[in-house]
Amino acid sequence: MAEEAVLGFLEKNEQIIDSGEFAAEQGISHDEIVNVIKSLNGFRFVDAQDIKKERWQLTDEGKTYAANGTPEYHLFMAIPPEGISTVELKKKLGDSVFKIGITQARNKNWVEMGKSISRKVAKVEDDVKAMLVKINDGETLNQEDIAALKGRKLISPQIWKGYSVKKGPNYAPKRRKPATDLTRENLQRGDWKEMQFKEYNFSAKGLPVEGGCLHPLLKVRKQMQMIFLQMGFEEMPTNNYVESSFWNFDALFQPQQHPARDSHDTFFLREPSTTRMLPEDYVERVKQIHESGGHGSRGYGYDWKREEANKNLLRTHTTAVSSRMLYALAQKPFEPKRFYSIDRVFRNEAVDRTHLAEFHQIEGLICDRGLTLGDLQGVLYDFFSRLGMSKLRFKPAYNPYTEPSMEIFGYHEGFKKWVEVGNSGMFRPEMLQPMGFPEDVRVIAWGLSLERPTMILYGIDNIRDLFGHKVDLGLIKSNPLCRIGLN
Ligand code: PHE
Repeated sequence: MAEEAVLGFLEKNEQIIDSGEFAAEQGISHDEIVNVIKSLNGFRFVDAQDIKKERWQLTDEGKTYAANGTPEYHLFMAIPPEGISTVELKKKLGDSVFKIGITQARNKNWVEMGKSISRKVAKVEDDVKAMLVKINDGETLNQEDIAALKGRKLISPQIWKGYSVKKGPNYAPKRRKPATDLTRENLQRGDWKEMQFKEYNFSAKGLPVEGGCLHPLLKVRKQMQMIFLQMGFEEMPTNNYVESSFWNFDALFQPQQHPARDSHDTFFLREPSTTRMLPEDYVERVKQIHESGGHGSRGYGYDWKREEANKNLLRTHTTAVSSRMLYALAQKPFEPKRFYSIDRVFRNEAVDRTHLAEFHQIEGLICDRGLTLGDLQGVLYDFFSRLGMSKLRFKPAYNPYTEPSMEIFGYHEGFKKWVEVGNSGMFRPEMLQPMGFPEDVRVIAWGLSLERPTMILYGIDNIRDLFGHKVDLGLIKSNPLCRIGLN
């Protein structure tokens, strides 16, 4: 309604000179008119110019006098024709009215003070009260009167703001609300051609960005890294999810017919399907050891195929990284090493509450002359007690690349039972000798998943709550900082 009033008025008139007067004429509140003017001005329907006026407002004291008369008037009226003593007059008026009244009345020459107080004139008008009433009604006074009232602190200035308004470049007698969306219906009807669209507001503030949160897997990984670093291990570079079958299997003395090398268990790459580069003399030695053995081994006695070794896959374990690192280590004069890695691996597995097709492995290895199974057990005790598991049991197991091999069980104090926590072993000579290590060099190694300890530490029993598209974001935002050693 206010908008129609403004636009309608400008259709027939050059300008609205004063929004305050306009509001009064229209019987609309000035605030409402001002809001409409501001909005129309923003879209340049109108051109608005600020106007400021100084207005006068009664102070509390001013309001009292406007209503009841001034002290000087009361004082004058209280004086009888024969005069009155100061004491009497004070008693009649009260101290404060007397004090202000006598000062003003003497200034105005209304009274005189001798032995008693008496009238100097016969009759007075309460002119100050009349002026205050005028101001209250919005009338204007001359400068002198204003100065007098201001001097007595009976009025105070108030800045009044309004607008004068003319048509703007986008003026139209009616404003259509600009559209914010282009709908299917607009396209079908074709009315988009006539529609006005709201402009983008590039200075609008976006939604507040919440800080990121560390996933429990990242927190446990950090803790694992700290443990390895405290134990003097160096991290291996794991930045290649794609690996050749050669490094993932063949170098680890895993025969080419092994079921894990089937596409039912492993993701092979379609593009690029094969690797381009392998160290040829080493490949030859690996072929030899698979086919006919050596270094005291009989080998597998089958026809080793290079094409099979060339096939690219998503690495199925981080031991592929270990085989690359050990090969590189064997090419230099021997130096003992402690290596670890924590990164992602992939298996073509049916997904259930404890299995995913991708997960993380933690792997540690130590390479030195004359290491024994006892060294492996000792390192495992050290490692797992740092995780809060100091009771361990070992069970003989089989891996193509380790002999002996041991599954590791840890006693979980919370669950009050033994839980499988990892796999371990001593890398076979069939793996180490073709790499070129001296005969007495032994490598002890172990691996575990990152997910399993994380689930135990955070009390998660379905792996899909931890990882993947069904992950519980609430859990990720609110999980505890660090749980290792607290179970
Ligand atoms: N690579 C093994 C696995 O995937 C773990 C392992 C690592 C076992 C090192 C022995 C030595 O389960």
